[in-house]
Parts: sequence; C-alpha cells; structure tokens
Amino acid sequence: MLVMTPPMGYNTWNTFGYDINADLIKETADAMVREGLLEAGYKYLVIDDCWSELERDPKTDKIIPDHIKFPKGMKDVSDYVHSKGLKFGMYSCAGVRTCADFPGSFDHEFLDAQTFAEYGCDFLKYDFCHCPQNIDGRLLYRRMGVALRNCGREILYSACNWGVDNSGSWMRATGADMYRSTGDIIDNFKSFSDILLSQQHNVGYSGPCCFNDLDMLTVGMYGKGNVGSSGCNDIDYKTQFALWCMFGSPLMIGCDVRHMTPEAKALLTNKNLIALNQDPDCCPPYEVASNRWNSRMKSFIRHLSNNEFAIGFFNMADEADGIPFFSFNAGLDVSCDYGFALTDMFTGEDAGLLEEFTYPVIQAHDCALYRAKIVKL
Ligand code: GLA
Repeated sequence: MLVMTPPMGYNTWNTFGYDINADLIKETADAMVREGLLEAGYKYLVIDDCWSELERDPKTDKIIPDHIKFPKGMKDVSDYVHSKGLKFGMYSCAGVRTCADFPGSFDHEFLDAQTFAEYGCDFLKYDFCHCPQNIDGRLLYRRMGVALRNCGREILYSACNWGVDNSGSWMRATGADMYRSTGDIIDNFKSFSDILLSQQHNVGYSGPCCFNDLDMLTVGMYGKGNVGSSGCNDIDYKTQFALWCMFGSPLMIGCDVRHMTPEAKALLTNKNLIALNQDPDCCPPYEVASNRWNSRMKSFIRHLSNNEFAIGFFNMADEADGIPFFSFNAGLDVSCDYGFALTDMFTGEDAGLLEEFTYPVIQAHDCALYRAKIVKL
C-alpha cells in the first residue's frame, strides 16, 4: 500500500473503550461527514479492541463480531461506513488474546487477514499483548504483514508494539504503514508532552510508507471517556495538535466526534496545521534550540515543500518562560542578509520578521507556530 502522508482518521478507544456497537459506529460515520472531518482529510473510521465474541467460532475458527454489539455483523457496518465515503478500520493483536482479553491473531494470521478482508476492512491496528515470550515480536509483525498482502484487499497496516525492541528501526521492514512506539496516551498534558519528548529520537524513522504514530489524539476529550484522566484545556489541546502536526504523526481523533466543542472542531480541522502535517516532502523537524535551564521549552523547525518552513516554539513546562532562538541555528548564515517572514498558523495573520535573534516568551503549556519564508532584509 502506498501511504505517502500521515494517515488521518478516528479511533474508538480513547473515548469508548469496551462500550462500542454498530449504532455508535454509524453515528460516528455520520458525524465525521457532517462536522467536516472527512473533508479535512480524516478518512479512516477505526474500531479498536472489544468488538468480537470472547471466543472464536468453534466451526470456522474465525474471530466473529459480538452478536449483541454488532447484531447484523461487521460487513453491515463497513458497508455503512463506505457508503459515507469513509474507510473502515479494525483491530487485532499479535498475541493469543488482545489487550482487553478477546481472541488475538497469534497463529491465525492468514485466516484473520482473510476475515478482515471479508468484513471490508481497509485498516488494521495490530497490538502486542499476550504474545508468547519465546517468539520474537519481529516475526509476529512480519507474519501479519505477509498475511495482509495475501488477503486480496488493500489494508493499511498500523502496528502498535509500544516501541518494544526499538521497533522504529525494524517495523518498516514488516510492511507496516505506521507504528506506535510509546505506551498509551491518557488525557492530560504530562502524558502527551512526555510522549513527544520520548519520540524526538525517532523522527528519522518516520516518513512515507511508515509513519511514527504518537498515539490517538485526546483533543476534545476534556477528561471524559476511557482514557479520560484529569483532562486538558483548549491551550493544552492546541499544543498537542501543533506537536502532532509538526512531527508528522498520523492524526487519529479520539474524542466523541458526535459532540465536539466548537474549539475542538476548529482545531482538528485547522487547514494550516493539517497542511503542515500532510506536507508532501515529509521532512522531519529538528530542534533549533531549547532553554538551557528548562528542558521542556523547545523550538523546532521543519522544511516544507515550496521552500517554506514551519517554526514552532513549545512550552511543555508548567510556568511561562522564554526560548532563545538564533537564526544561524536554523541555517541562515551570519553574514547573509536574509530573515524569516512569519505567518501565524493558528490565526493566518502576518506575524512579522524573524531576523537574527528572538526570545519569545510562551505561556505555560502553550505554543506559537509559524509558516516561514526566507526574505531579503
Ligand atoms: C493497548 C493499545 C491501546 C488500545 C488497547 C486496547 O493498550 O496500546 O491503544 O488499543 O490496547 O485494549
């Protein structure tokens, strides 16, 4: 499968966990279209764990949908999702059982890949719980990678082994189109900012055909749902979304899209940020500078197509603070007569010139993010 920019969609886990059913999926599909999410690029609607019966079908050995949650089966749901112009995603696990203790795909990879194809599945999230300890995880992800390529349907392969065995360095070789390399996100500032800081070393292992997935977004959850925790405010979410876009992570929404606040909807559909995330060059960002006394204050720059740049200042600490930024650290040599002309990515407004040096003070948990062009001073 050719996945040239970070996949975008929605996943049930963050808000609904165990509590999923056919009506919820259909209502979510309706909402993704009605609220403009599909139009903004979010095309995969993914059902996470807890969709199946507790045991395989004794006759066929197939994993079968829970007959109460999905009374008309899975094809009925996927047909509905497809009828809305969306793609349909499902979940399984490389182990004997899934993380929530439903049947996993271990030693049934080919049968299960074919079953997912029969269900009309376009995306498979593949988790890592309950794996036999004497079998290398690499082999398990390769097996499902081969099985998916043999199932007769194009299915995006979303690997999720939380980074075990430094998976960034080998997951691409399994045929995975995206991979998670952290533990689970929960809905608070510390959780998502720690995920980001832990993944800075992985930026070189992310790009077309296999993107590093920083996990499902919590934007818009405000503490509700399955991974609710203490929740975030709109400033926190602004920073989360800006970081996920700057780092070119897949964007999988995790809030209840049937009932988004206007703020969450505006953020998740912000055209400038999505264009940054989907920039066709897929260059990784690099750190330009941090505050020497505060390792949670950072600025990043990212090369974009059309010879533009994204420049971001992020305060991942709990107090307002400044970040010293010298243009020479971003590639403008000291004798050159050039600077960066900035456009604010949140407001779309002209934000002036960045010449040799700036020291923006950023409020706690906040960020500033610009599209930048090189101009003669
Ligand atoms: C693991 C994954 C989560 C979610 C749950 C489901 O914890 O990392 O994203 O899929 O399993 O049980």
